[in-house]
Amino acid sequence: MPAERTLHVADSTVIVFPDAAAASRAAADRIARVVAEAVPARGKAILGLATGATPERVYDDLAARVKAGSLSFRDVVSYNLDEYYPIQPLDPLSYRYYMHRNLFSRVDLAPNRAHVLDGTVPESAAADHAAEFDRWIEADGGLDVQLLGIGRNGHIGFNEPSELSPAEFAALPTRMVDLHPITKADAVREFGSAEAVIPRALTMGVRQILAARSIIMLATGPKKAPVVTQALKGPITASLPASLLRTVADKVVWLLDEPAAAELG
Ligand code: PGA
Repeated sequence: MPAERTLHVADSTVIVFPDAAAASRAAADRIARVVAEAVPARGKAILGLATGATPERVYDDLAARVKAGSLSFRDVVSYNLDEYYPIQPLDPLSYRYYMHRNLFSRVDLAPNRAHVLDGTVPESAAADHAAEFDRWIEADGGLDVQLLGIGRNGHIGFNEPSELSPAEFAALPTRMVDLHPITKADAVREFGSAEAVIPRALTMGVRQILAARSIIMLATGPKKAPVVTQALKGPITASLPASLLRTVADKVVWLLDEPAAAELG
C-alpha cells in the first residue's frame, strides 16, 4: 500500500492517507501523543472530542489502545463539540449516548470528567450553561487538542455558515444554534426522516475551537472532497466555517484519505 503523502496548501499542513482507516489511525496516534505529553507536563490532558460517522474509527482505535494497556484516560478531561437540543442523554440519537457507546464505556475516563453539553437544560438556562462550558474549559487551562470533522457545508461543531465577518465569527462563544438545511439533510441518516431531525443544538463556539493548542481535522470519503478543497483553497469566510482554521494554520493538521483529497490538485 502506498505511504501517506504530505501537502502544503498555502500555510496548511495536509496529510493524505491511502484510506480512512489509516487517516483515523493517524488521528488516534496524535491524540495518544497529546495524552502522553500533557499528563506528565501538567497532570492532565484536555481533549476536545467530536461525533459523527468520521471519528468512530478513531474511538475504536483509542479503545483498543486502552484495552492493550498502552494508553489510559485516567488523567484525561474531555469536552465534546456539540449536542442536539432538546434531547435526553439516554436517547440513542444524543451525542452523549454516541460518546458513551463509542468511547466513554470502553475507556477508563471518569464520568465526571467527560463533558458533553446538556440537551436537557431548561431553555431559560441554556445561555448560562453554554457560558459555563466555556468557563470550565478555560478553568482547565484550555484544550490540548480538538478533534474536528467537517460538514458538507463546511461547519465545525455546529458552527454553521454565517454572514458575520471572519473576526466576528472567530469570536463566537459556546451557544444555542439553529441547524443549517444541509446539516439537517445529512442528519436524516441518523433520525430516519426529515421531520424527526431535531433542528436546534448547543455547540462549542468558534473561539474555543480556534484557541485549542492543536487541532486535528479528519475528513474522509468522496462527499467531503468539494468542501475540503473550498476550505483550504477558497476565501477565508464565515460562509465556510472550516476556512477559519487557516487563521491558525500552524497548529492545525488536516488528515484526509485519498477520496477526500481528490480535488486538491
Ligand atoms: P460526519 O460529520 O463525520 O458524520 O460526516 C462530520 C461533521 O458534520 O462535522
